[in-house]
Amino acid sequence: MLNILITGANRGIGLSFAQQYARDGWRVYATCRTPETASELKASESAKLSVHALDVTVAASIAALHDELSDVALDILLNNAGYLGPEPQGLHQTDDEQWLQQFRVNTIAPLRMTEAFLESIERSERRQILNISSILASNGNAFGGYYPYRATKGGLNAVTKNLAIDLEDRGITVAVFHPGWVRTEMGGPRGDLSADESAEALRAIFNKLTPADSGKYFNYTGKELAW
Ligand SMILES: NC(=O)c1ccc[n+]([C@@H]2O[C@H](COP(=O)([O-])OP(=O)(O)OC[C@H]3O[C@@H](n4cnc5c(N)ncnc54)[C@H](OP(=O)(O)O)[C@@H]3O)[C@@H](O)[C@H]2O)c1
Repeated sequence: MLNILITGANRGIGLSFAQQYARDGWRVYATCRTPETASELKASESAKLSVHALDVTVAASIAALHDELSDVALDILLNNAGYLGPEPQGLHQTDDEQWLQQFRVNTIAPLRMTEAFLESIERSERRQILNISSILASNGNAFGGYYPYRATKGGLNAVTKNLAIDLEDRGITVAVFHPGWVRTEMGGPRGDLSADESAEALRAIFNKLTPADSGKYFNYTGKELAW
């Protein structure tokens, strides 16, 4: 049986990932900040899907989860949790404290989760660390504005690329993905895809990944994106 740990699984794309992987027979460790209020996720609990508390920006929270799951070999660590922050984010419209919170969630946390769960991932069959970024991090597709979100997801892309190099010898594949413009709280109602459609499309790409894909930046269509 394959095991996956998902961050930010209480709503949006993370919830769809959790439900779909469980339906496909995976053992899902679905994490969120406040399980007490994660009603949709809690309703999906089963022998295949357990819900665990995790604030990805709090070291003690990561350590507690690691202790709780110390026996699990993690096939996929899916760093899905993300923070857009208040909009608009153009010139003269950003706030230092907001930038820092975005860095904590979008850039630093996926590295901390990787550090904490590295040995659990190394013990697994698939050995994959999959990070959800955004096309807004792609300098090749830039159109101005969104400074903190672009910078913090761009930081995640840099973390991913360098982890891929550092972890190659340990047989771990690390890659980064744009999930599409998705109708979630973050993406709003006008997005192109539902959360289920986005998760379905990304899971198809995840299933085909090989070690040769480590260090790559993919769109949800499977095409590579310009850094
Ligand atoms: N929707 C889009 O169009 C779009 C486009 C490009 C990229 N993305 C990326 O796709 C991923 C999923 O986004 P989404 O659209 O599903 O967004 P969403 O509905 O806003 O969900 C964000 C998730 O991240 C969690 N989160 C935020 N801060 C956290 C923290 N400190 N600790 C743990 N969890 C935290 C949220 O938990 P709470 O409920 O506790 O806040 C929530 O579960 C994100 O990385 C996002 O940046 C989305």
